[in-house]
Amino acid sequence: MEKFKLAVVPGDGIGPEIVPVALQVIDALGEKTGFKFEKQFFPWGAGNYLKTGEFMPANGLETLKPFDAVFFGSVGLPEVDDTLPAKDYTFKVRTGFQQYVNYRPVRTYPGFHGPLAEKKNIDFVVVRENTEGEFVQVGSQYLPEAQNGMGVDTSIFTRKGIERIAHYAFRLAKKRRNKVTYVTKSNTLIYSLTYWDRVIVEVSAQYPEVELHKMYIDASTANFVLRPEIFDVVLTTNLFGDILSDLGGAIMGSLGLGGSGNINPEKDFPSMFEPIHGSAPDIAGKNIANPLGTIWSGALMLEHLGLPEAAAKIMKAVDITCEAGILPVDLGGKSGTIEIAESVISNL
Ligand code: NAI
Ligand code: MG
Repeated sequence: MEKFKLAVVPGDGIGPEIVPVALQVIDALGEKTGFKFEKQFFPWGAGNYLKTGEFMPANGLETLKPFDAVFFGSVGLPEVDDTLPAKDYTFKVRTGFQQYVNYRPVRTYPGFHGPLAEKKNIDFVVVRENTEGEFVQVGSQYLPEAQNGMGVDTSIFTRKGIERIAHYAFRLAKKRRNKVTYVTKSNTLIYSLTYWDRVIVEVSAQYPEVELHKMYIDASTANFVLRPEIFDVVLTTNLFGDILSDLGGAIMGSLGLGGSGNINPEKDFPSMFEPIHGSAPDIAGKNIANPLGTIWSGALMLEHLGLPEAAAKIMKAVDITCEAGILPVDLGGKSGTIEIAESVISNL
């Protein structure tokens, strides 16, 4: 029996609905195939902030560090200042644990037609740089109340940061279809993103078997909708990847379908797995949230922990469930969160 120590942070909104059912799927498979997650739950997030004044305790990262992985829902509530969730929880974990890869796959799910019904062969991964770029939160507001006030955010792109995410993207492409499309806007962000381009092109010289394509972010958004089949590995900056991966969710059929991993490839720190969407407070507490993106995140976690066959079994069971027409409300179905997870478990 292979054992893992798992920190679970369900978070806010629909988090406490989708995270437990995704864990039930993982546990059910573990019982059948011989692995076990010993779980510890942490009540962190905006709800915790309302009670205690903090999203997570000051020693939060130290607390999480000994775990093999973190399984996360999402943080944020309408009644809490929405500049805090990323700053006080998500970015702290991503940067503190050097989770510099945000791995966000996009594929067609069988069993229903998304908005791009005629596209049957969507299968790519958005590799988003996850620790620097536009989201470093270096900036200030100057005289915010005055007529001539202003707000400034600085983007930071370092050679180390670009090189390591580029190497990851090229290595991933070698395991897939040998194609990297890097997303940029160096025609207008002429300092930061020309540097991004330059370092990626330099790194690409070490991977002559991988085709490299450059695409501007504006054209990329159009191509996600019009020609998604051209993509294999999409290498993007932190902000562009945040936006593009929601579009990736949308072309699959719903934001609720997207799984993701915040990965520290060297395994010096635990990686964190979460759906791509937010806490969806508008649908919380109704048992209608789509759990499939969170279940997919669980499969990505199994893959990261060295159990790729278990991950494939989970996705197979998800596909059988979808093909049987057991679909959540956001995909036009009638099944609830719990019912969908039960069906996935019965199809393992
Ligand atoms: P959102 O992703 O929570 O919701 C956008 C829309 O998609 C909503 O209509 C929601 O009902 C729907 N949706 C999302 N997930 C769904 C699911 N699993 N099943 C069915 N429908 C689903 O984004 P929004 O509304 O912009 O943000 C809500 C809160 O989440 C905010 O406080 C935001 O800061 C936070 N957030 C947190 C993230 C994180 O913790 N990593 C990421 C993104 C947003
Ligand atoms: Mg996002």
